[in-house]
Amino acid sequence: MPPEFSLDVAVVGGCGRVGLPLALTLAESGLRTAVYDIDHAAVEQVVNGVMPFSEDGAQPVLSRILPQGLLRATSDPSVLGQAEAVIIAVGTPVDDRRRPDTTALESAVDVCRTHLRDGQLVILRSTVFPGTTAFLEKAFGDTGKAVDTVYCPERIAEGRAMTELRELPQIVGGRTKPVRDRAARLFGRVGPETVHLTPEEAEFAKLATNAWRYMTFAIANELFMVANDHGLDYARVRAGLQYGYPRAAGLPAAGFAAGPCLPKDTAQLAAFAGRSFPLGPAALEVNETLPRYLVRRLADRYDLGNATVGLLGMSFKQDSDDVRDSLAYVVREELERRGARVLCTDPHVTGDPSLRPLAEVLDAADVLVVTAPHTEYRGLVTRVPAVDVCGVLDEGCRSAWEAAAGGAADLYAAGTGRLSAEGVGHSPARTG
Ligand SMILES: NC(=O)c1ccc[n+]([C@@H]2O[C@H](COP(=O)([O-])OP(=O)(O)OC[C@H]3O[C@@H](n4cnc5c(N)ncnc54)[C@H](O)[C@@H]3O)[C@@H](O)[C@H]2O)c1
Repeated sequence: MPPEFSLDVAVVGGCGRVGLPLALTLAESGLRTAVYDIDHAAVEQVVNGVMPFSEDGAQPVLSRILPQGLLRATSDPSVLGQAEAVIIAVGTPVDDRRRPDTTALESAVDVCRTHLRDGQLVILRSTVFPGTTAFLEKAFGDTGKAVDTVYCPERIAEGRAMTELRELPQIVGGRTKPVRDRAARLFGRVGPETVHLTPEEAEFAKLATNAWRYMTFAIANELFMVANDHGLDYARVRAGLQYGYPRAAGLPAAGFAAGPCLPKDTAQLAAFAGRSFPLGPAALEVNETLPRYLVRRLADRYDLGNATVGLLGMSFKQDSDDVRDSLAYVVREELERRGARVLCTDPHVTGDPSLRPLAEVLDAADVLVVTAPHTEYRGLVTRVPAVDVCGVLDEGCRSAWEAAAGGAADLYAAGTGRLSAEGVGHSPARTG
């Protein structure tokens, strides 16, 4: 390494859900690392050794490496000129019309243009619209500074970052072999292997991964709704068809598919397609219909204007504290629109003053909806019926529909999916 760099790596957006676990992992591997972020409160927390969000296994690493001087956190962008490699990991959302919103990325690029120096390696980590790496190459090239630019997408699932960063192969999308090799050397410090693609292939690969995953969830949710409309329990059907039949192993359980990545990356791919791409928008439509579908079914059977509905779990997925784009809030909104009193609870989510303790919700509710299948809810015994699409409650088919229909239900909320054959079951886990 050239002696003039006092740091090995600096991460732009380094206090975020992608940036911070990556920075911690790089620092843990012995690299002198800095996180740069415009979120002063989050920087302050990291400086004080506190994770700004929940990520399994991250807090002990932060506590260990801070005293060793391997990690710095700052809101001063001049740190970017001190690192041999600069990683950009800012958010890349879509706007109201589902077009890529590049505001954060553009401002990150601007700050990099000011502070970059000859000889640096810039690694784009955010999930981006194909062609963005080429845009960065030009933006940095126009400054006259000799920097290498490469696209290395993040593929972890939130909550598993600290293990997956060390286990998943790293896709390296570089224009030339020396650039790819340079990035591969850096990621070789943490992960097992690298896969080399062009920048455009790597950008497309990341979007394709998330869109494909999101579309498989849409298939499950569509099948759930069709089955439910015809009095069939999708979870039981799924368990039955998967039993001893490996070709069906990839059929997911039904459940809310949402969060800050899968829907927006499917939307980005649709925007990129530049032609009709019916599967992507159809998946968005199906997955986003599920919460409204459940509320409609509840309204068919309960006088919602006089009911208290308890929502179990408000984050966008199991065992997470992340509420970004969580469909649980859509369920709440829809129920409230229909006049229901809605009580929400979540053992992981902090900072939402409307949330109540679980016991209070269980006590007051006339009917429950499991809106995030947290581990804490497994086997929970409830006094009232529950709409449990994922089948996380052990009783599974204690269907809200059955209860409302006096036991002769023609519709099912969900089931445990267990058949009598030993070992047959289904996992409610959603990881993306
Ligand atoms: N969250 C995931 O599980 C996940 C997984 C894979 C890929 N991704 C992708 O990674 C990217 C980041 O996602 P995230 O979930 O970490 O977002 P995030 O919002 O948690 O983190 C982004 C961070 O960037 C900071 N930031 C914004 N603009 C900045 C700027 N100009 N300069 C410095 N810091 C700035 C924010 O303050 C925030 O801390 C996105 O492109 C996302 O699609 C996310």
